[in-house]
Amino acid sequence: MKKINIGIVGYGVVGSSVVKILDKDREIITQKSGLDINVKKVYTRNWNRKLFYPIDDSKKAKTVDEIINDKDIDIVVEVAGGIEFPYHLITQAIKNRKNIVTANKALLAEKGKDIFSLAQKYDVRIGFEAAVAGGIPIIKALREGLVANDISKIYGILNGTTNYILTSMYTEGKSFEQALKEAQEKGYAEADPTLDINGTDAAHKISILASLSFGGFVDFSQVYVEGIDKIDTLDIELGRELGYTLKLLAIAKSHGEEVEIRVNPTFLPSWHPLSKVDGVFNAVMVEGNNVGETMFYGRGAGGLPTASAVISDIVCIGKSIANNLGRDLEITSMDWKHKDLTLT
Ligand code: HSE
Repeated sequence: MKKINIGIVGYGVVGSSVVKILDKDREIITQKSGLDINVKKVYTRNWNRKLFYPIDDSKKAKTVDEIINDKDIDIVVEVAGGIEFPYHLITQAIKNRKNIVTANKALLAEKGKDIFSLAQKYDVRIGFEAAVAGGIPIIKALREGLVANDISKIYGILNGTTNYILTSMYTEGKSFEQALKEAQEKGYAEADPTLDINGTDAAHKISILASLSFGGFVDFSQVYVEGIDKIDTLDIELGRELGYTLKLLAIAKSHGEEVEIRVNPTFLPSWHPLSKVDGVFNAVMVEGNNVGETMFYGRGAGGLPTASAVISDIVCIGKSIANNLGRDLEITSMDWKHKDLTLT
């Protein structure tokens, strides 16, 4: 059995859930993948805080260099969040010929072009299933399951925190502040929850899905983004009286040579399937020319669902290492048309 050594950078909700799943479900993961996945080192900025899940002292790295310079580490798992620090970390790791698994949607949406071109140059793989819609395997669905389709539209609910807040306000009449506090306590929100609330997180995710669907990188600064920060309970109440549910939708549509990408609060009629997606759940609708309309549903945030996606990438890359496959056969870039998308 092939041993795959991983180094994890970031030991918060997601990083510790990766280690927890690899411990508690080791047998089934080993049986299904044929891989022996070994957490060799873990880095976090502060080892003195209370950890979500224990880790052996011998695995605690004091610097990220201990991970990216470790010759035995095959895959660097970045679950730290932010942009500047992970950008530096990932580019250095790629130059050291480490494969990367990241949950970092902000980084890929804003710097994906640089990162993928570097990965191509150094012949390493980048897995990012966990970057969009938590536990829903939407990246693999777009890359593999729907590969025989020309995608015309992809849209849905891509932020668990705001959907949790809207649902709590809608069904339980909670205040915005109370609902946000709960979402933070449950580990759904970003370290800076402004990114959830103002729609930026959903915009990062839909930009990644648009790239995969339409084959080019997006100039993120051109994406229209409106969050739920100006919504109050009265808006939700009025919508409900008229038979509508308010959701934060992320939408990408192809218009021939141009692509429309936006995030904004939307009133949905109660018959619409997305109006029934509640709490931390996300849902993504995809329209392909051969498959027609498809819908993917699952938990969009939280430690275990996101870690489940991280581990799927570790296995996918681990298998390609074990089988000596080149990167292009397994995980390719997001810009398969090799030209940037023009936004409307
Ligand atoms: N803050 C994000 C959300 C986490 O609420 O959806 C998952 O990307």
